Amino acid sequence: MRLDEIELGHWGRRIGQTVETPVVIALRGTLGAGKSVLARAIGAGAGVRDTMPSPSYNLLLRYDTDTDVEVVHLDLYRLDTPDELWELGWSQLGADNEVVLIEWPERAGDLMPKDHWLIELTVPEDEPDLRDVEVHRVGHPPELTAFPLSVSTRG
Ligand SMILES: Nc1ncnc2c1ncn2[C@@H]1O[C@H](COP(=O)(O)OP(=O)(O)OP(=O)(O)O)[C@@H](O)[C@H]1O
Ligand SMILES: [Mg+2]
Repeated sequence: MRLDEIELGHWGRRIGQTVETPVVIALRGTLGAGKSVLARAIGAGAGVRDTMPSPSYNLLLRYDTDTDVEVVHLDLYRLDTPDELWELGWSQLGADNEVVLIEWPERAGDLMPKDHWLIELTVPEDEPDLRDVEVHRVGHPPELTAFPLSVSTRG
């Protein structure tokens, strides 16, 4: 599907409102593809009331919500090697009540949790204000009901 920024925000909030936890959602795309726009929308939908600044320096930021859900937002762009993930508490990620959002998941290599959603955003060459969105199921993450689009399966 091809969405403008407002539509992407609506869709992301709907994901955040409806997703079951624990869930890991990887957000893939080039610089400026809209990974953070989508992560913030999912977080807002899940009940985060704070603004969600970019975790590009801290790599990981954690948010409480109105409910017992916690949102964990990671941006792994500055990760040098996947081994650095252990310092972030990587092994405890994906606890019962967490929505884990991971930008630049490819930096985690083989350490990515085996069950997750992978959302890929691309900027169409001729439409700089739209984004093509593809959703891939990797392993067996909890169902997402916010998907009015086809889902492919990987791994
Ligand atoms: N349809 C769209 N969906 C999302 N963002 C859009 C869209 N059209 C334009 N934009 C703009 O694209 C930019 C996306 O920035 P964002 O920080 O979300 O990218 P990113 O993928 O997180 O990049 P980075 O790799 O630097 O973290 C924003 O400035 C946003 O306003
Ligand atoms: Mg970003």
